[in-house]
Order: sequence, then C-alpha cells, then structure tokens
Amino acid sequence: METKRSSFSGRIGFVLAAAGSAVGLGNIWRFPYLAAQYGGGIFLLVYILLSVTFGFSLMVAEIAIGRKTQKSPIDAFRALDKRFSFVGWLATIVPIIILPYYSVIGGWVTKYFVGFITGSAGDMANPNFGGTDVSYFGDYISSTESFFDLAEPMLWFFLFIGLTAVVVLLGVNKGVEKVSKFMMPALVVLIVFIVIYVLCTMDGALDGVVYYIKPDFSKFSVKTVVAAMGQLFYSMSLAMGIMITFGSYTKKDVSIEKSTKQIELFDTGIAFLAGLMIIPAVYAFSNGDEAALASKGPGLMFEALPRVFESMPLGWLIGAIFFIMVFFAALTSARSLMETIVAVFMDKLKLGRKTSCFLVLGISLVLGACSSLGYSAWGMVKILGLQFLDFFDFISNSFIMPIVALCTAIFVGFFLKPKTLVEEVELNGKFKFRVLFETVIKFVAPVCLVIILVSSVAGALGINLGFLNFLIV
Ligand code: PFF
Repeated sequence: METKRSSFSGRIGFVLAAAGSAVGLGNIWRFPYLAAQYGGGIFLLVYILLSVTFGFSLMVAEIAIGRKTQKSPIDAFRALDKRFSFVGWLATIVPIIILPYYSVIGGWVTKYFVGFITGSAGDMANPNFGGTDVSYFGDYISSTESFFDLAEPMLWFFLFIGLTAVVVLLGVNKGVEKVSKFMMPALVVLIVFIVIYVLCTMDGALDGVVYYIKPDFSKFSVKTVVAAMGQLFYSMSLAMGIMITFGSYTKKDVSIEKSTKQIELFDTGIAFLAGLMIIPAVYAFSNGDEAALASKGPGLMFEALPRVFESMPLGWLIGAIFFIMVFFAALTSARSLMETIVAVFMDKLKLGRKTSCFLVLGISLVLGACSSLGYSAWGMVKILGLQFLDFFDFISNSFIMPIVALCTAIFVGFFLKPKTLVEEVELNGKFKFRVLFETVIKFVAPVCLVIILVSSVAGALGINLGFLNFLIV
C-alpha cells in the first residue's frame, strides 16, 4: 500500500525547512575560510555568479524532479529512467561521508559554547597559547600530550552526533523547528551586530572589507572556480539528493522558481555576512598580511571570533550566544543529513527506524573518529596527501558531488529533456528564467563540471595534463 507522503504547509513552510537545512556550518564556518584562502573578492564574485546561474538551475531541477516523482532520490531517478538510478545511489553516499566530519566540527562548536560559559574565553582568544606559536584552537585539535587532550575533541564529537541521533530517533522535529525558527533570525541579527562592531572599532578592518569585496582578477584561477563550485553544492545542499527529497514533500501549488530564489538569497546572504564578520577582523589582526589570512584554513572562525569577543564588553556572553546559535544551525543541518541516510537504510535495507538510526550512528562514529584523530594522533596518516577530515571534504565536494551534478545535468538536458521539468515548474505560472535554466543544464553545467572533475582528479593523483596543466587544482 502506498503511504501518503507528508508535505509542507505552503511555500513559506517549504522555504523555511529547506533554508533550515541549507544554512549551517557551510555558511558560517566554511565559506569565510574559503573566501580568505582564494583571494577574497574574486572568490565572492565567482561564488555569486555561480550561485545565480548554476546553483539556481540545479536547485530548480532537483526540486522539480522530487515534486514530479514524489519519490526519494534513488526511486525518483529510477522512476524517470532506470539507467540513471545509479545517480540516486551516488547522491546518497554524499551525506554518509559528510555527516561524520560535519559532526566533528559540530563538536568543536559545542566545545566553544561551553568554553565561553565556563570562563575559558580568554584562553580561546589566545593566538599564542601557553607561550607557543600555536593558537588555542590549533592546540585543542592537535594536542597529543595527554590522554585527555587526545580524547577531548572526540568526546565533543560524540556528544554532538549523539544529540543529533536523539533528535532523529525521538522525531522531535517540531521542537527543533520551533527553536531554529527563532534562532535563525536571531543569528542573522547577531552577525550584523558583530559586523558593525568590527567595522567601527578595529583599525584596518575597512581594508579587510575591500579585500573581501573588491575582486582582484590577478588572483583568479581554475582553483577559484573549483572551490566555489564545491562550496555551492555544500552550502545549498545540492548534488546529494536532499533537495529532491524536499521537492517530494512539496505541494503542487508551491512555486518552485520563487522558492528557489528565496532559499538561495537566504543561504548566500548569510554566507556573505559571515565572511564580512570574520575576514575584516582577521585582516585587522594580521595587519593586512593577506598570506597569513589565506593560510588559516578550517580554524579561521574558531581563532578569529574569540579575539573579537575578547575585545567587547560582556564578550564572553556574546560569544556564548553566538556559538549556541551556530550549534543549533549545525544541529538542524546534521539532523537533515542523518534523516536522509536513515530513510534510505530503512527503505533499501528493510530496517526499522531504530536499527537504521543506530547503524548510521555506528558508521558516523567510526568515520568521525578518524577525522578527529586525523588532526592529532593520526596526523601522519594521509590519503592523497590529505588528513582524514580534509580527504572526506575533498572526496565529497570536489569529486562525488560534481559527478552527481554532471549526471543530473546530462540526464535532464539530454534524456529527460528540460521541457519535462519546465512543465513541472510552470504548474505555478510562467518560468521567468526558463532560458537560463535550459542553457545552464544542457551546456554550461556539463562543460564546467567536466573541467572541474578533470582538474580535481588530475590534481589529486598528480597526473600531468601537459598544456592543460593550468587546470589543475
Ligand atoms: N548545507 C549545509 C551547510 O551549509 O552547512 C550542509 C548540509 C546540511 C548539507 C544538510 C546537506 C544537508 F542535508
């Protein structure tokens, strides 16, 4: 017997749920450090251009596939064309890879929240912790001095993923939704407040804004596009079946085009603000040293913000509020990731909800522990020259997601035909950006994605492309 699919109550319900899943660590933690790493303004420009063309088209396609078929990603592709059901499977692997390391970072956020309320604000702001040249954050994730040092990041990771599992198991969606409905706008207000504080009080911050906003075309390379594209998938939850699932819960009277624009605007807006909060501050701390800013990597947010909070009156409290809000944004995203995997395991392995959830938890604990230890005790273990966490990030964002996106574009462009999805979108009036959608899906996306794949694979495996070497990341 077909069970009736649950659905969102109207467009706002859909947009809020999708935005709740999309807005997370990708926006607040990942976007700023990539922007800093890849030349500031030029990265921002490439990201925005990709977002309004590529991101828009892929999101419309995924939501329309979901709504048209009313099925989960694997079944949706199978229903439309059996030969493409592998795309659904491939898309499902992505959340399995992302959830564990996402939760390790969720653990870092939890630790920082607790640090702020337990009097460690000063330590966390210390760029030379214990008189060394290692920051508090660097010491925290990599110290192997004592058993506790080694175990601590893992314990916070266990706590975070454990909480995510509790939320999924108890199905306390309503509660989490209520909290995040209030937390998300509050987080935006807090970020704007921090931006204003940084810009008004820190010498040199305005130069940092210039670095962040003004594109320097001499810093452009294929790497910029590859990094921006990976970030786009990650941040908008694309190429991992999530938006197909969301689409399948969407009623026919919801405008796919309008909803997509709103989700995108929201997601990109928050990422932009997060960059504006962090990059000028770090620019000021490092006295305009762009190389220092670019080299910070995943630690950027955790090193920069405690220093900003330290300089504020009641900074410990503002820091605590900030990190608890980021914690909730991360939790709603992690819940979405876990829900997706649990649903697939229930469906395809014929498992009960509880068993399925414990299985996901088990897999995540193992993979997440590798990511956590990869920065400390297992620092010498490298896959393709990368530590575990960076490897999981690379393999999902720069490899599997581009393949899923490429196959989706080829499938929609040449097999299903864009017209089929255009008809789905036009159930709610004229599709204003139809020409853009068709052109991107059929031509621009496949060409760009092939370049991206060649670039990341050749880079990772050290393959020489001769005169095409400029493509290599
Ligand atoms: N888009 C999320 C972020 O930017 O943090 C990551 C993510 C969450 C991806 C949930 C997928 C998902 F289902």
